Amino acid sequence: MISIAFFNNKGGVGKTSLVYHTAWMFAELGYRVLAVDLDPQSNLSIMALDEERMEALWQDEVPRLTLYGAVEPLFVGRGDLREAHVEPLSGNLGLIVGDLALSRIEDDLSTQWSRCLEGNERAFRVTTAFWRTMKKTSKRHGADVLLIDVGPDLGAINRAALVASSHVVVPVAPDLFSLQGLKNLGPTLGRWRDAWQQARPKSPSSLGEQPEGAMRPVGYVLLQHAERLGRPTLAYAKWQGRLPLVYRQSVLGETGEPQECNPDPHQIQRIRHYRSLMPMAMEARKPMFALRPADGAIGTHQSNVSQCYDDFHNLVLEIARRVGLERGTSA
Ligand SMILES: Nc1ncnc2c1ncn2[C@@H]1O[C@H](COP(=O)(O)OP(=O)(O)O)[C@@H](O)[C@H]1O
Ligand SMILES: [Mg+2]
Repeated sequence: MISIAFFNNKGGVGKTSLVYHTAWMFAELGYRVLAVDLDPQSNLSIMALDEERMEALWQDEVPRLTLYGAVEPLFVGRGDLREAHVEPLSGNLGLIVGDLALSRIEDDLSTQWSRCLEGNERAFRVTTAFWRTMKKTSKRHGADVLLIDVGPDLGAINRAALVASSHVVVPVAPDLFSLQGLKNLGPTLGRWRDAWQQARPKSPSSLGEQPEGAMRPVGYVLLQHAERLGRPTLAYAKWQGRLPLVYRQSVLGETGEPQECNPDPHQIQRIRHYRSLMPMAMEARKPMFALRPADGAIGTHQSNVSQCYDDFHNLVLEIARRVGLERGTSA
């Protein structure tokens, strides 16, 4: 199972928008895709669905048609997992819907993590609840790839989400905060990976296969800021220039003399800031690169739409190549 988390310890860098557009582009290229909203803030689901539909999915009756609904029995002591609802967004693209109620399970996830080391069965069930949900749903949906949106914190929900991820893409913006996020993220990923490698062999054999918890870094995606009046591009250039080294040291754990490579091989793609296309896309509930004149994308907007298409097309081709999903030029 190829499951890719988009993760940085900094909010507002464009993670959710990136997962949304990447999911649509993978689907556009013929892949079967499952987008998974693991952020309790549920911004990905809110972006994809209208309020009426969200209200129906967040119904108070049980089971809720969200990721929380799928894992709920395990956390309230009424069994194990339920079949997860997949909300269709297109023929190839489905969404496992996010839920604010996910926050309710954070404490339990946190407590059970260290109990995995004792070989405790429930601890493993809880810690792998997301992975098992994704694996089953991915099989049912016939998914080629799962794309996971998470919140920016380093808490227990995200740790369980990362244990479920074969790969990690790091979205970064060229600013101090994003780089600082990267410096926190790298060592944390390393600790989670190591802790899981220690715990995994302790799992009771009755539970069967356990996630690898590989969290392989695919690279970073540079999300550009809107050019603000009076804000010199030079300021961005400074942070951008530091990114390759910070990524190597913090995320890849490399030491020693940095090698100058231009372009940086760890930068997967640069995504421009498309300003007014985003509100238009939110309104039309479609990706920016699919906007038509009828959606309001007229005049110069149309050339931005095609540039946006190229940005995401290149991004997805490169991610597919790096995670071993490429299908040749006609994919
Ligand atoms: N490429 C882009 N072009 C225009 N606006 C963007 C782009 N990427 C993100 N945004 C906007 O930036 C803000 C933060 O993005 P979001 O995806 O919610 O970030 P995060 O998930 O990291 O908090 C949102 O208002 C979003 O609409
Ligand atoms: Mg987000």
